[in-house]
Amino acid sequence: MEPTATPLQRQARLLGDAGRYLAGGGTGLFVLPPELNLVVERGQGSRVWDVAGREYIDYHLSSGPVLLGHAHPAITAAVAARLPKGTTYYFLNEPEIELAKRLVDAIPCGQVVHYTGSGTEATFYALRIARAFTKRNKVLKFEGAWHGMHDYGLWGTVPARPSDYPHAQPDSVGVPPQAGETVLVTPFNETERAVAMIERHAHELAAVIVEPLQRVLLPEPGFLQAVRAVTEKHGIVLIFDEIVTGFRIAWGGAQERYGVVPDLACYGKAISGGFPMAAIVGDGAVMSVLDARSRPKAEVVWATNTLNGNPICAAAGIAALGVLAQPGVYDGLRRIGAKLRAGIVAAGERHGFAVQAPGEDAVFGVRFTARRPLRTWMDLTTANKDLGLRWALELIRRGLLVNPNEKIYLSIAHTDADVDKTLDIADQAFAALKRAG
Ligand SMILES: Cc1ncc(COP(=O)(O)O)c(C=O)c1O
Repeated sequence: MEPTATPLQRQARLLGDAGRYLAGGGTGLFVLPPELNLVVERGQGSRVWDVAGREYIDYHLSSGPVLLGHAHPAITAAVAARLPKGTTYYFLNEPEIELAKRLVDAIPCGQVVHYTGSGTEATFYALRIARAFTKRNKVLKFEGAWHGMHDYGLWGTVPARPSDYPHAQPDSVGVPPQAGETVLVTPFNETERAVAMIERHAHELAAVIVEPLQRVLLPEPGFLQAVRAVTEKHGIVLIFDEIVTGFRIAWGGAQERYGVVPDLACYGKAISGGFPMAAIVGDGAVMSVLDARSRPKAEVVWATNTLNGNPICAAAGIAALGVLAQPGVYDGLRRIGAKLRAGIVAAGERHGFAVQAPGEDAVFGVRFTARRPLRTWMDLTTANKDLGLRWALELIRRGLLVNPNEKIYLSIAHTDADVDKTLDIADQAFAALKRAG
């Protein structure tokens, strides 16, 4: 890059290179339109700056991991202290042991921990563990639930119309139909239907996996309790996917917030302060299928990866949990989030839009729909996605970083001043949408 390039030119050049050298021009499923596309230069607290020098209040937080805000001093100090000692050894390291102790202390179902590199690997291996433990093959997930990118997770995640339950369509091309033969799908929050399906398939069900807060849908009172009761009755492993909710909606995650304890839970995002690490945490008897000390190798679940338990990630995680354990953290997060949710809904209504902000205060969605209540994935499909996209693009244009039609993530670095500015921008964005007709 020539030294005289302006920041805007540098960003344009980088975006050109991204378009050429990165598959699909980006890192995920969604690529911003060219006039709004950006390359992040740095982040600090609730803000990020792009290479062109534009500042944004960040409500995506890398899809959730940056719960403490960007470049939190406790995390950068912990990582800086650890880096000179080397970055990975495969053999045991102190941070991974220390972090495991803290996870077990904090998590209601926690007895032992198995580290993975990503949330996808955590749910993938949790299902394998459940199959090995129960000696059954099938798993049940709920329509609209996101458990990562493996071949058992990508069924009925974003269907446009109701599935032919218990069968669902694959979400991605390239997923083999044979994988779908082992995955049952039923609607979230339809308690009687879910219990009946679990009862009917109990003899072949290894696991029920659930996002306790399913994307932005709150569990109805009694739903998770009923799923817990029927899985317990039939010896089916209940897996909570707490990759979003863990250490975010409460210190003890969804288990604490909704008062239901599963057999296994998958954690990611917040547990490693923005470094790539995830974990399966759970019941010692179920997790014993990983234990090569107590069973012949032929009976051990294989779930080992080169970078599992990485000391840098674990050091960042210990620092992150240290900050989150301080008094008042979750009250603050809830207060700011509640103000933001109420303000966005009020702004939408002022401009004549039927807008709702379902979810929890620390993580919620903004959906353009009049359907109430929002209970199931099919309820969410009533939202006008085109309006949602256009509103989000208006926000980005005005300096709020969001992922259109996805979730708004709050960090503990977001302030009242951030929220006030955000609500001002949200109002302008609704006004622009209305003007455009
Ligand atoms: C609830 C849930 N489970 C699993 C995953 C997959 O995690 P990863 O993206 O780390 O593979 C995600 C990712 O967003 C998620 O939201």
